[in-house]
Amino acid sequence: MMDQDQIAALADLPKLELHLHFEGAAPPAFIRGLAQEKNVDLSGIFRKDGSYDYRDFVHFLSVYEAATSVLQSPQDFARLTTAVLEECAQNGVIYAETFLSPDFCGGSDVSAWKEYLHAIREAADAAQRDMGITLRGIATPIRHFGPEKARAAALCAAETADDWLVGLGMGGDENQGQQRDFAYAFDMAREAGLRLTSHAGEWRGPQEVRDAVEDLRVERIGHGVRAVEDLAVVDMLIERGITLEVCPGSNVFLGVYDRLDQHPIEKLRDRGVKVTVSTDDPPFFHTTMRREYSALAQTFGWDREVFDQITKNALEGAFCDTDTKTRLAKQLETA
Ligand code: ADE
Ligand code: ZN
Repeated sequence: MMDQDQIAALADLPKLELHLHFEGAAPPAFIRGLAQEKNVDLSGIFRKDGSYDYRDFVHFLSVYEAATSVLQSPQDFARLTTAVLEECAQNGVIYAETFLSPDFCGGSDVSAWKEYLHAIREAADAAQRDMGITLRGIATPIRHFGPEKARAAALCAAETADDWLVGLGMGGDENQGQQRDFAYAFDMAREAGLRLTSHAGEWRGPQEVRDAVEDLRVERIGHGVRAVEDLAVVDMLIERGITLEVCPGSNVFLGVYDRLDQHPIEKLRDRGVKVTVSTDDPPFFHTTMRREYSALAQTFGWDREVFDQITKNALEGAFCDTDTKTRLAKQLETA
């Protein structure tokens, strides 16, 4: 058994986070403040204690979209950037990739999207100077908005692909449609040089994970944990070197698994899958990167060696360029 000091030391390690929804990382107080400024009534989405209120995954998505409705301008997103990166930095995160939807940033209009990106990058550059944290963006089509909106989002992404906007990653309700319905959007993004990931194997089983790899040719999977239900799919992930963006606290909070000790992250890691650890939408799931690390150390006895491997997987699987990775590797060494 590890003692509390050992667990605290592991939770203090420098971290890389690959799966963080930008709007989903908004602290509830920040969203309430914006709602007040804009005279939007969001009282229905908060509990008395101030946290977000929802019943299940589908309701979570609609509360998420209601909260996002007060983020109405590039300036709002710049303020969100600072608020989110402060939280990340306090949790020892030195590098984060964030899902950022063109649908929520100017309605997938390319020139509006460029203005949002510009404001977010300026705030992220300031955070890098002030807090030593690096941010990169992954443009995010939302699955339950359908393939047509996904194409518009992918066009925004393709038009702005660069050293900051590094990927395309689909989120949203996995129970709607099929991965292949979004192949056109993913092809457009790949041709623009973007790296690819898609949520799969969170709500549907292993076939969905296989579909994301084969039909969309992604190199990472958001969640992917239910691949464990078919070892042939697990072995396919290993053979192809696919990185899983695993969000254990999210999965337990939303009821994919009842308890962390039933979560397959350890089994997947032990078999040789490149797993990483992220928070998904931290205030919605009452989690932080520190809490994720503590809980994993406590539940699975993960030690320094395991967390070093997790960090290495994240650095290798990150979508940023080689110079950034070299800089992050140095930052990890000196931390
Ligand atoms: N959008 C925000 N969080 C998500 C999740 N856990 N799954 C799918 N889409 C999301
Ligand atoms: Zn997610």
